[in-house]
Amino acid sequence: MKQCSRDHQHTVRLTLNGAARSAACEPRMLLSDFLREGLGATGTHVGCEHGVCGACTVQIDGVAGRSCLTLALQVDGRRVDTVEGLCDGDGPMSDLQEAFKRHHALQCGFCTAGILMSCDDYLKRVPDPSEAQVRDMLSGHLCRCTGYTPIVAAVLETASLRRQAATTPHPGD
Ligand code: FES
Ligand code: FES
Repeated sequence: MKQCSRDHQHTVRLTLNGAARSAACEPRMLLSDFLREGLGATGTHVGCEHGVCGACTVQIDGVAGRSCLTLALQVDGRRVDTVEGLCDGDGPMSDLQEAFKRHHALQCGFCTAGILMSCDDYLKRVPDPSEAQVRDMLSGHLCRCTGYTPIVAAVLETASLRRQAATTPHPGD
């Protein structure tokens, strides 16, 4: 295993939302702090900082995970996706984000970035989830505002619209 001196800064190189990025950090720095303070990616929120609330969820090599339970050094050479990567700059929001907007699936929005990153990963793996499955997936996130029902509706609608789009023939097919 690579040895890191606690007294030195170490350079972490990663692909963040499709772009090559790098910054130096101490070995003990959390990925959540590295994203926000080292790389300016403040879309990822920090709540409990011990793995309970889910606000800090990002995707590491495509898999949702807690950035407050991950050291920045652990993503060296890997791909990290955050809520900023769900849409293209000032371009249109993703279908999942649009569904959240339609269903009023956020109020203060503090939990939303993490929930979106979990849902985005989940829908790629489970394209036709039941309501119970969506609620089970969301059990890894704390939301104080919404009561979850509009979030569940947004996720189920996104899944349904994606399935419809996948089975609709395109002109020229
Ligand atoms: S801030 Fe990471 S789980 Fe709460
Ligand atoms: S929208 Fe406020 S905590 Fe979820």
